[in-house]
Amino acid sequence: MAGQIRDYTDSEARAALPCKWGAVPEGTLPAWVAEMDYAPASAITAALNGAVGRGVLGYPPFGGHGPDGDLEAAFRGFAERHWGWSLPAGATTVVGDVVDGIRLALDHLCPPGPVVIPLPCYPPFREVVELAGREARYVALDPDAERAELDLDAVRTAFDEGARTLLLCSPHNPWGRVFTRAELEAVRDLAAQYDARVVADEIHAPLVLPGGAKFTPYLDVDPTGLSVLSHSKSFNTPGLKCAQLISLRDDDREAIAALPHSANHGWSVLGMIAGVAAWRDSDLWLLALRQRLDVLREDLSEHLAERLPQARMRPLEATYLAWIDLRAYGVSDPATLGRKHGVRVAPGHDYQPGLDGHVRLNIATSADRLEEIVTRLAKALTA
Ligand SMILES: Cc1ncc(COP(=O)(O)O)c(C=O)c1O
Repeated sequence: MAGQIRDYTDSEARAALPCKWGAVPEGTLPAWVAEMDYAPASAITAALNGAVGRGVLGYPPFGGHGPDGDLEAAFRGFAERHWGWSLPAGATTVVGDVVDGIRLALDHLCPPGPVVIPLPCYPPFREVVELAGREARYVALDPDAERAELDLDAVRTAFDEGARTLLLCSPHNPWGRVFTRAELEAVRDLAAQYDARVVADEIHAPLVLPGGAKFTPYLDVDPTGLSVLSHSKSFNTPGLKCAQLISLRDDDREAIAALPHSANHGWSVLGMIAGVAAWRDSDLWLLALRQRLDVLREDLSEHLAERLPQARMRPLEATYLAWIDLRAYGVSDPATLGRKHGVRVAPGHDYQPGLDGHVRLNIATSADRLEEIVTRLAKALTA
């Protein structure tokens, strides 16, 4: 039971995931926002049910020690078991969510100057940089590149021109890439030449899929970097609001501790409780999830080969979010066309303004729905 993934029926999904399913009319299949059509791990449900039963609905405690255990200790255990990463105690700060953590880092911990964002990117990266009053410097991936790699020459040019922060999604959404240690070392060496800081959004780190790719925590390579992580994406709990900002530098922790409470207060006590249950007690469920996604990733390739043979997709090494190049079908906005045929995928231009013919497709659903999603997309593009 602990290691099983339970699919929601359509009506369960519609009730449980009001953002993902509520945004589409009855009959349309949602494959856009990053939520999974699966019930949470039983350890998380039990912990939450217990807490709600005890009336634990107040403000969260200061610091990382929630009513059902220590969030940081639970995360450190997870990092050690899964990545062999020994994170020292005291390195994490609880934040409301990953985007809040990035905002906190930009506002209070990163050097002034423009922020480099590799494109295509998770769309809030562009928003949060703008909200922080920073100029963005974009480094775009060549859509025709065989492998999705960071263009270090372009990052260097941005640093030459004054940028001092790199916002790196690792593993990358929507590229689907897990950066190798050597790649991250090259990023670190470049940043060091310019006294630049790397903010690594590592929310997808628990979702590295079978097949050889290995997650390297950015701070394990560069102790001056910053990482933001949460259980929310891989354990399907984003509504609970709880993430962790990680720094190995004392001056960062002092700077955060000196901030007024309202600068960082967006997490919930239930988010902390779910976090402890996720990081500490849900390994079997996570293993089953990765195996499930591995099969679905294979299914997706087969469905595309059969129904949309001109689609191009690089190997999906992590996440359940497939980045698909449909330019060969000559449609600038396949996502809008898809909606007319009963499927909602995320439009590529949300991830890179001006980039035509791409979509991001969420495979974390049932095998039957995934097949139907591709079938409808194919009808839209080939009708
Ligand atoms: C790369 C990345 N960062 C952050 C988030 C959102 O995280 P949160 O809800 O904790 O802000 C997502 C959600 O899909 C994501 O893909």
